[in-house]
Amino acid sequence: MKHWNVERIRTNKKGERLACVTASDYTGARLADSAEIPLILVGDSLGMTVLGFESTLPVTLAMMLHHTAAVVRGVKDALVVADMPFLTYQASIPEAITNAGRFLQEAGADAVKVEGGALRVGLVEALTQNGIPVMGHIGLTPQSINQMGGYKVQGRSQAAAEQLLQDACMLEQAGVFAIVLECIPPDVAEKITAALSIPTIGIGAGPACDGQILVMNDLLGLSLQPPAKFVKQYATLAKTLQEAFTTYRQEVQNKTFPAKEHSYAPLT
Ligand code: KIV
Repeated sequence: MKHWNVERIRTNKKGERLACVTASDYTGARLADSAEIPLILVGDSLGMTVLGFESTLPVTLAMMLHHTAAVVRGVKDALVVADMPFLTYQASIPEAITNAGRFLQEAGADAVKVEGGALRVGLVEALTQNGIPVMGHIGLTPQSINQMGGYKVQGRSQAAAEQLLQDACMLEQAGVFAIVLECIPPDVAEKITAALSIPTIGIGAGPACDGQILVMNDLLGLSLQPPAKFVKQYATLAKTLQEAFTTYRQEVQNKTFPAKEHSYAPLT
């Protein structure tokens, strides 16, 4: 039995703050799980961080199933949530149930995440009533980037902040077990967090949320680009890895690798 399940996360409102992270492969998932991370999201941000796309929009169901299955194989205790990619849940509820079910049945995920507020109430009800736990995601929702006109902070006007609060309450009522709040002002996130009985998981949403989530590549400093304002890098692996590749290349070129200790005993 896993240590973390949906019910444990849902009822963790007053428990330890949830330090969540994304993962896209077996190795990253294994390391995060061994560090006692409670919730691992197979985020469709892997479209950018792993697959080199410009946005999350080109990410398909097949890609997400492939990465989710790899993450699941690396996890012993964390809850694994899979992002439903663009156009796999918007067209119709029956199609969404079939697609979401594949994450549980074929890839072994524990739950799925969908982007959007009040608009997703019917979908969340249908999924949860059919045994598929759902995490919500409001604020900056990258699958709607064309509609939003860029990666911008959301909920900045009174009306927009009230809409976010209403969205969060409606999602909770519909049955989500937690909600990601992405790129919203900290006071708006605080108000939403206080209004809900399920945990809020913030990313660029300030310190008041019940948990935080970071994209693994950001947390580990795996990009050579400067990070977004809300990111804290807990390592600078891009530099470390680049140096390792350079040293390796130099040692192969100047014949210091492989050395005697890297070679098997000769025949005679
Ligand atoms: O895709 C992703 O990584 C996400 C997180 C930013 C929450 O949705």
